Amino acid sequence: MSRPLQFVIYVVLAASVAGCQKAAPPEFNTDQVEWLKQQKLFLDGDDQYSAAYLKEIPAIMEASLGTPEHAWFPFNPEGDDATGNIVNPAYLKMAAGAVSSGEKGSPQGLYREHCAECHGVTGDGAGPTAALLNPYPRDFRLGKFKFKSTAQRRPPTDDDLRQTLTQGIAGTSMPAFDLLDEKEIDALVDYVKYLSIRGNFEKYLMIEVPNLDDDPFFSAEEQAKWFDPISRSAEATLGADKKEHTPAVDYEARTQVAKQVVQGIRDVIGDQFWEYVVDRWAAGDANVTPVPARPAAFDAKHEQYQALVESGRALYLGNGGCVQCHGADATGMKQADDAYDDWDNHWLKSPGVDPTDRKSFKDFRKAGALKPRVVRPRNLTLGVFRGGGDPETLYRRIANGIEGTPMPAATALSEDEIWALVAYVKSLAVDSKR
Ligand code: HEC
Ligand code: HEC
Repeated sequence: MSRPLQFVIYVVLAASVAGCQKAAPPEFNTDQVEWLKQQKLFLDGDDQYSAAYLKEIPAIMEASLGTPEHAWFPFNPEGDDATGNIVNPAYLKMAAGAVSSGEKGSPQGLYREHCAECHGVTGDGAGPTAALLNPYPRDFRLGKFKFKSTAQRRPPTDDDLRQTLTQGIAGTSMPAFDLLDEKEIDALVDYVKYLSIRGNFEKYLMIEVPNLDDDPFFSAEEQAKWFDPISRSAEATLGADKKEHTPAVDYEARTQVAKQVVQGIRDVIGDQFWEYVVDRWAAGDANVTPVPARPAAFDAKHEQYQALVESGRALYLGNGGCVQCHGADATGMKQADDAYDDWDNHWLKSPGVDPTDRKSFKDFRKAGALKPRVVRPRNLTLGVFRGGGDPETLYRRIANGIEGTPMPAATALSEDEIWALVAYVKSLAVDSKR
C-alpha cells in the first residue's frame, strides 16, 4: 500500500473512532466581555482582577442555575404554586438539555434544537450563525427586549415572548415557530426568561467585584458546602439504562442549595440587584401599557380619516420629532452613522474604545463581542413592522419606544396625538404600495 493511501485510511479510521465517542456536553460561556469592561472601568492600564474570580463566578452560576444539561431556578417566589412562578421548573426540563424525547415521549432539548444555532447555548446572541446575520440575534443576558407591550425597563410579558416565538420577527432572520405546540412554546418562553435572568445575574456578580477588595464572594467553607459541580458529583453517572439524558440529578435538593447561594449573594450585593434581575419579572401582566380606545376618526370614512392622517403627518414632521431619524420621506436614511443599540453600546462605551477604530476594541472582539453595527431607523414605507403592524401594537411601539435602541418613547405626546401618528405610519406603507 502506498504511503499516502495508508495515511488517508488512518485518518478516516481515526475520525470514525472519534465519532463514536460522545461529544462533551456544551457549557455556558462566562461573560468575558462584561468582565473585560469592568476591568477597563475600574483598573489602570493592563491591571486585572484576581483570576480567582474567574473560577468562583462560574461556580456560583452553576450552583445557582445549573448547566445547559441540568437547569434549575432559585428565584421563584417562596411557597407559591407553579402559576405564581417566574419560571416553571417542568418547562425548564423540557427546554434544557440535549435534543431527545425524554420519559413518556415528552420533548427535551427544545432550545438547543430550535434556538441555540442563532442565540447561542448561553443565550449570548453569539451562536454559530450569529456573525452572518443582520440584525444580530438577541443577546438575552442584557435583560432587554425590543418588542413587547410594556414600558422601557419593564420585562416583556409571557404573551409578548409567545408572540415573538409564534410570529417571528418580520424583516429579520428570527423565524416563526408556528409548528410547535402550546406547551413547547411556553417551555421556550420560560427558557428565554431563565437565560435572561441568568445572564443578568452574572453581570451583577461581575459589577460587584470592584467592591470586594479581592475577597471571594464566599468563604472556603461555604464554597465547599455549595459548589458541587454536577460534572464531578456522583449524580452525573449515567442512569441504569445508560441513556445520556437520564442521570439522576436531584433537582429539588439542587434548588434548595441554589436558594441559599443566591441569598448569600443578596447579602453581599444588597437588594438593588434583586429588584432588576428578579422582582421586575414577577409583576407579569401588571406591567402592560394600556392602550386607549381608538379615536372614531381612525375607523371613519375617507375624509375624517384623511384629516387624522394629516395631523399625524404634521406631528411626524414637527413636535413628534420622528423626522429627525426616519427622514421626511420616511425611508429611515436620515440618522447619522454613529448610532448603535445597547447590545453594542454596553461595551462600546468603555474607556478607550472608539467605534470607528477597530484597533481600539480588538480585545473586546477577542473576548467574544460581535462586530459593532450601526442601527438604522426603520424604513416606514415598506410596511414591515418587526414588532407587529396592528394599530394597538403600533400605538404601544410609539408610546413606549423600542428599548435598547435610539427609538425613544413618545412621552410628550397625548393619546390622540399618538393615534394620529399610528394612522400616519400606516398610511405611509399603504401609499408606497400604490
Ligand atoms: C435563524 C436565527 C434565529 C433563530 C433560529 C432564532 N432566532 Fe430569535 N432572534 C433572531 C434575531 C436575528 C433576532 C433579533 C431581531 C431584531 O433585533 O429585530 C431575534 C430575537 C429574538 C428575541 C427578542 C425579541 C425582542 O423583543 O427583543 C427572542 C425572545 C427570541 N429571538 C427568541 C428565540 C427563541 C426562543 C428561538 C428558538 C425557539 C429563536 N429565537 C430562534 C434570530 C433567530
Ligand atoms: C432618535 C431616532 C428616532 C426617533 C426620533 C424616532 N425613531 Fe422610530 N425608530 C428608530 C430606530 C433606530 C428604529 C429601529 C429600532 C430597531 O428595531 O432596532 C425605529 C423603529 C420605528 C418603527 C418600527 C417598529 C417595528 O415594529 O418595526 C416605527 C413604527 C417607528 N420607529 C416610528 C416612529 C415614530 C412615529 C416616531 C416619532 C414619534 C419615531 N419613530 C421617532 C429611531 C427613531
